[in-house]
Amino acid sequence: MTGQRRSAQAETGSVRLRRAEAGDLDFVIATERLPHNELRISQWPRGRHEACLGDPDYAYWLVLDDQGRPLGYAILRGLTDRHGNIALQRISIATPGQGTGRAFLVALADWAFAETACHRFWFDVFTDNAVARALYRAVGFIEEGVQRESIVRADGRRASLALMSTLRPEWQALRAAAV
Ligand SMILES: CC(C)(COP(=O)(O)OP(=O)(O)OC[C@H]1O[C@@H](n2cnc3c(N)ncnc32)[C@H](O)[C@@H]1OP(=O)(O)O)[C@@H](O)C(=O)NCCC(=O)NCCS
Repeated sequence: MTGQRRSAQAETGSVRLRRAEAGDLDFVIATERLPHNELRISQWPRGRHEACLGDPDYAYWLVLDDQGRPLGYAILRGLTDRHGNIALQRISIATPGQGTGRAFLVALADWAFAETACHRFWFDVFTDNAVARALYRAVGFIEEGVQRESIVRADGRRASLALMSTLRPEWQALRAAAV
């Protein structure tokens, strides 16, 4: 997709974003390994992050505070998908519950639909991740279904994943109604 490097920085109504670079991986990895993430997202080795950061199919984003310091990160995947499916591979906020994640998520979807040919912006979420699931529903994402007991998590237990998405016309309608 042509827009993948078009917007290295993005200003939205309420949040400031920047594309992550190799020097940001310490923050990404440290955030990913915070205790509140342990059973909610995957923890990748540095080498996998380095490979994905250099892969045109991926986009690493940081959400920043007023001084430009990172508050959280997200990974998008599927920028080269010819069917226009872009996945939110991961999102994590270092200090949750301050309104950052919601604004970041909206800004990421805005970017995908504005700067790429994305048709479907999607992700999966563990069904027991009540905070994230409630947030996604509140923003307007549609639950497509559940992959039952499809993942063995770090604690050895099986967990189910809910698939969620928004399609381009749905997102445009949501944003026109001012999410
Ligand atoms: C999910 C996550 C990205 C959301 O980011 P955040 O900055 O915490 O979210 P916000 O502060 O914008 O809050 C979003 C909503 O969740 C609610 N919320 C946040 N933390 C909460 C908590 N601990 N308990 C209940 N509700 C909570 C907020 O009240 C808010 O609802 P509102 O918009 O109706 O007020 C973040 O919590 C996180 O990093 N979680 C760990 C990793 C994870 O679960 N990633 C998603 C995997 S799919």
